[in-house]
Amino acid sequence: MLQTIIHKTNEVRMLEFAEHGDDDGKLVIAEGMQDIPFAINRVFYIYGTRPDVVRGQHANKKSEFVLINVSGTSKVRVIDASGNEAVYSLSRPRVGLYLPTMVWKDMFEFSEDSVLLVLCSEHYDPTEYIRDYAEFKRLTAELCNNVSDKGYNLRTLKPEDACRMLEWMHDESVIKGLNSQKFRCMQVEDCKRFIEKSHHDRENRHFAVADENDKYMGTVSLKHIDTTFSNAEFSIALHSDSQGKGVGRFAMAKIMEYAFEELKLDEVYWNVLKNNMHAMHLYDSLGYERTDLNPDRPNEDLQYRYRCSKDMYYKICRFL
Ligand SMILES: CC(C)(COP(=O)(O)OP(=O)(O)OC[C@H]1O[C@@H](n2cnc3c(N)ncnc32)[C@H](O)[C@@H]1OP(=O)(O)O)[C@@H](O)C(=O)NCCC(=O)NCCS
Repeated sequence: MLQTIIHKTNEVRMLEFAEHGDDDGKLVIAEGMQDIPFAINRVFYIYGTRPDVVRGQHANKKSEFVLINVSGTSKVRVIDASGNEAVYSLSRPRVGLYLPTMVWKDMFEFSEDSVLLVLCSEHYDPTEYIRDYAEFKRLTAELCNNVSDKGYNLRTLKPEDACRMLEWMHDESVIKGLNSQKFRCMQVEDCKRFIEKSHHDRENRHFAVADENDKYMGTVSLKHIDTTFSNAEFSIALHSDSQGKGVGRFAMAKIMEYAFEELKLDEVYWNVLKNNMHAMHLYDSLGYERTDLNPDRPNEDLQYRYRCSKDMYYKICRFL
C-alpha cells in the first residue's frame, strides 16, 4: 500500500532497543538501518534545558529522527499535516521515538537531568527546516488540497478495469501522446492478462488511478525497476474523460512518493514526445528536469528526457 503523505502521525512509533549487560551495568546498541530505520548521518544531544523551555519547534522536509532520553525525562508533541496531534513521554534509555519527515515537533518538560540524544538521517541543511508553524500549515494545507482532497486514489489494478483501460488504448487522442504503437491492437483479454500479471510483477509496478467511486481513470506505472542502479521509468496514460482535472498531477505526486519513500529509489526517468504539450506542461510546472536525449543534435530527436532525482523530489516535487 502507498504511504499516505498527510497522516504522518501514523508513522510515528516508539522503538524498544535490546538491553545488554547485567547488574554491574547496562549497554544499549542502536545501529543504523537495523535498530534505527535509517542510516545515521548526524547525532546531537540536548541537556541542561530549563523545564519551561520548548525545544524543536520545527518540521523537516528531508530528515527523519530518533529521539532517546538516555538520562532523565522529556515529552515530545508531534503534529502532522492533517492536524493529528500526539504527545509521547520519553523516560527510558532503551526506548526511542521515531519521527518521520514533515511532522511538527516540540520537545518540552525536560527534567533537570534530561539528556535527549537525537539521531538524524541527514547532515545538517538549514533549507530543509521549516521553523515557522504558519509556513508548515500553509505547505501542508496546499499538500492536502493538491494531493488528497479530491477523493482520487492509487490502487492495484482490478479485472473490472479492463474495459475502460481498453477504451483509452483505442483512443487516438490518448495514444498519440505515447511512443508505443502496441496499444492499438490490444483486446480486452490482453488487458485482463496484463492486470493479472501486474499483481505478481516486481520489476514493473502498475497502479490504477481511481476516482472517489473507485472508477478507473487510467494507469500510472514505474517500469524497469532496477535495484542495482536504483532507478525506474515512469509512465502514465489517462482515459480522455479523466484528463484536465488534476488527475495527472495527483498521480505523479503519489507515484513519486512511492518511488522515493517506499522503494527508496535514487532516480525516476521518462521520455515525452516533443509535441505532447499537455504532458510537458504538467512535468515543467512540477519542476522536473528536462533535457535533450542527444544534446549535440537536439533537432534529431522527437522526444525529451525528463528525470527526477531523490533530492529533487524532496526539494521541489513533494511540496507542490
Ligand atoms: C498527460 C496527462 C498525464 C496529463 O494529466 P491530466 O490529468 O490531464 O493533467 P492535469 O489535469 O493534472 O493538468 C496538468 C496541467 O496541464 C494543463 N493542461 C490541460 N490540458 C492541456 C492541454 N491540452 N495542453 C496543455 N496543457 C494542458 C492543465 O491546465 C494543468 O496545468 P495547470 O495546473 O497549470 O492549470 C494526461 O492528459 C494523459 O494521460 N494524456 C494521454 C497520455 C499521455 O500523453 N501520457 C504522457 C506520456 S509522457
